[in-house]
Amino acid sequence: MSVNTVIQAAVLRKKITVPAIQSKKASKIPITMLTAYDYSMAVIMDKAGVDMILVGDSLGMVVLGYESTLPVTMDDMLHHCKAVARGAKNPLLVGDMPFMSYQVSIEQAVMNAGRFLAEGGMDAIKLEGGKERADTIRAIVSAGIPVIGHIGLTPQSVNALGGYKTQGKTAAAAKKLIEDALALQEAGCFAVLMESIPRQLAELITEKLSVPTIGIGAGSACDGQVLVINDVLGLFDRFQPKFVKQYANLFEIATNAIEQYIDEVQTRSFPAPDHETIMAAEEWGRLNQEL
Ligand code: KIV
Repeated sequence: MSVNTVIQAAVLRKKITVPAIQSKKASKIPITMLTAYDYSMAVIMDKAGVDMILVGDSLGMVVLGYESTLPVTMDDMLHHCKAVARGAKNPLLVGDMPFMSYQVSIEQAVMNAGRFLAEGGMDAIKLEGGKERADTIRAIVSAGIPVIGHIGLTPQSVNALGGYKTQGKTAAAAKKLIEDALALQEAGCFAVLMESIPRQLAELITEKLSVPTIGIGAGSACDGQVLVINDVLGLFDRFQPKFVKQYANLFEIATNAIEQYIDEVQTRSFPAPDHETIMAAEEWGRLNQEL
């Protein structure tokens, strides 16, 4: 497809809603989701036709350079949500609730979830945790805020989990994740995101739930897939999880482009005549007479 065709398709496309995402499970059409953190990437994703954009707290690591997602604040999240909302009109926009924005009290959780919609321009929120979050999710949903639950490897619990490890590998751990997924659905989540769990377990949970499952490192049987855009485009230099597929190497492309820019500035081949504005000879002459 040419760039123009892609742009026309984006203009004709309708805003994707929560019911539209849910109906994809019934029609067995895989749901596509990617993270984005800024305006430019949001515009690109909208034009490319992704179903959902997650403004993930992964921005703490891939954009802000922290070692984990734990330092990310509500202010950080809202700042990036607003930028994404200005760029993407069609995809369903999901804001990720950061560490300690929903764990302290249900009241604070509802208030912070509301800020994602009222201030951040998001359509829904995502939060981490299983059964223990059911009451919080119920309260957020009853305030009219659509929620995606997130189970399996939950990065905000990295210290409790002892690292970024695949979850649900034993029968007991898998049973707990099935119970968590059902509890999230019962609490009102419109979808459940499952991170880094065995394929068979993800398939079983997908069969058991009537709401869609979105997988990241959970195999191909999920109703949809999500990846961190910096991993997809090869922009994150620190590590790459096993479940990531890198579709481009923008790190290398950007490094080459910047090296070329440095070289051209140093050799005065940039700016070239095409990049310059030349004053009309008459005005230039007048200026010289006045000096
Ligand atoms: O913050 C994030 O990007 C996420 C993904 C790993 C799904 O939660």
